[in-house]
Amino acid sequence: MKLLIATRNKHKLREIREIFSIATLQIVSALDFPWIPDVVEDGDTLEANAIKKASTLAKATGLWTLADDSGLEVEALGGAPGVYSARYAGESVDYAANNRKLLRNLEGVVERRAQFRCAIALAAPDGRARVVEGSCAGLIIRETRGANGFGYDPVFVPDGYAETFAETEAELKNRISHRGRALEAARRAWGDLLESGAAKLTP
Ligand code: IMP
Repeated sequence: MKLLIATRNKHKLREIREIFSIATLQIVSALDFPWIPDVVEDGDTLEANAIKKASTLAKATGLWTLADDSGLEVEALGGAPGVYSARYAGESVDYAANNRKLLRNLEGVVERRAQFRCAIALAAPDGRARVVEGSCAGLIIRETRGANGFGYDPVFVPDGYAETFAETEAELKNRISHRGRALEAARRAWGDLLESGAAKLTP
């Protein structure tokens, strides 16, 4: 069967392909449907955005569709930037500006606990969806460190490690990250069903 991944982000696609390497599954992506416009991510939660993306593309293509939405939640900021992580410092996607704003808002703050969270939705061709999530807890440090990864990686040190996500190898980050854990949960929840064919899946 075909499974559509609702993203045009090649980095995400590679990670998802690796975890969902199921012989009977042919993975396609939003890159294969260039005429379908980007879905506006205007939900109040990561879950709502993941479901909206998966359902919209499933209905538009008639394919079972997987979509993810992630964000960084900082305790001292009441969970911000959360669902607004991509546009924390403004509409244009500028990771450095987002990190500067975050560090400014945490100036003088001692309690710097945070978590990345990722919601993954699977939608049937009729749009009905189910969702799983994964998270990764850690600390926001006081400056940026490292050149790997993207987004808030240079300011986030996961629990149990000394390096930021921008200093660790991709392989380690993928294993312990919110997205890696959510994808593992998705694979556990839906892998067998996807392997045996979508006909047996009841949304
Ligand atoms: P998306 O929903 O995965 O596209 O993530 C939305 C925003 O959350 C991104 O633009 C990043 O700012 C942030 N983000 C999500 N995942 C990560 C990550 O693994 N590292 C750093 N930042 C992330």
